[in-house]
Amino acid sequence: MDVLPIVATALWAMLPAYVPNNAAVLAGGGRPIDGGRSWGGRRLLGDGKTWRGTAAGTLAGTALALALNAVYEPVAATLGVVADPFPVVAGLGLALGAMVGDIGASFLKRRTGRERGAAFPGLDQLDFVVGALALATLFAPEWALATFRPSVLVAVVVITPLLHVATNGIAYALGLKDEPW
Ligand code: CTP
Ligand code: MG
Repeated sequence: MDVLPIVATALWAMLPAYVPNNAAVLAGGGRPIDGGRSWGGRRLLGDGKTWRGTAAGTLAGTALALALNAVYEPVAATLGVVADPFPVVAGLGLALGAMVGDIGASFLKRRTGRERGAAFPGLDQLDFVVGALALATLFAPEWALATFRPSVLVAVVVITPLLHVATNGIAYALGLKDEPW
């Protein structure tokens, strides 16, 4: 297998996991998930993790998976994507998993004394990947194992941090995000 279909498959399969965090930035606000509670003198998660942002991100990622299915024949074939269409539960697992991974990272940031918005290099770029892959595998094991072959997994782990840095830089430049990470 060439590199191109591997990269195309990685990007295609992870798109429903890439979009939720950006949708949450746009839609976020309102009641924080932790309800303002603290643990050990620090917020459990912080005001940056809200119900509205999480719901919007999950919906956006799941909807995107269905939209990708609709253009599967013309687009996926042209790009050389080697993956079956997304089962709905795979889209949901990728999207919700991305949000849960990001929430888990906020939990770890607060436990390590980092305030809301503080950077945690490495974790910031891969938290949602771990969450998305875990929940997709849990919700749609057959699809996930067939799609995320070892070569595709390597591509995901290499490409995602680069994309994350780029999109967050753009969101920061546009004034949508308070920090560029
Ligand atoms: N957001 C949200 N709900 C989520 C994730 C994100 O509402 N589950 C929104 C919040 O408005 C948040 C913004 O998206 O401020 C940016 O997300 P992120 O960078 O993940 O949060 P931070 O505010 O930086 O907080 P943390 O340090 O906990 O990551
Ligand atoms: Mg942040």
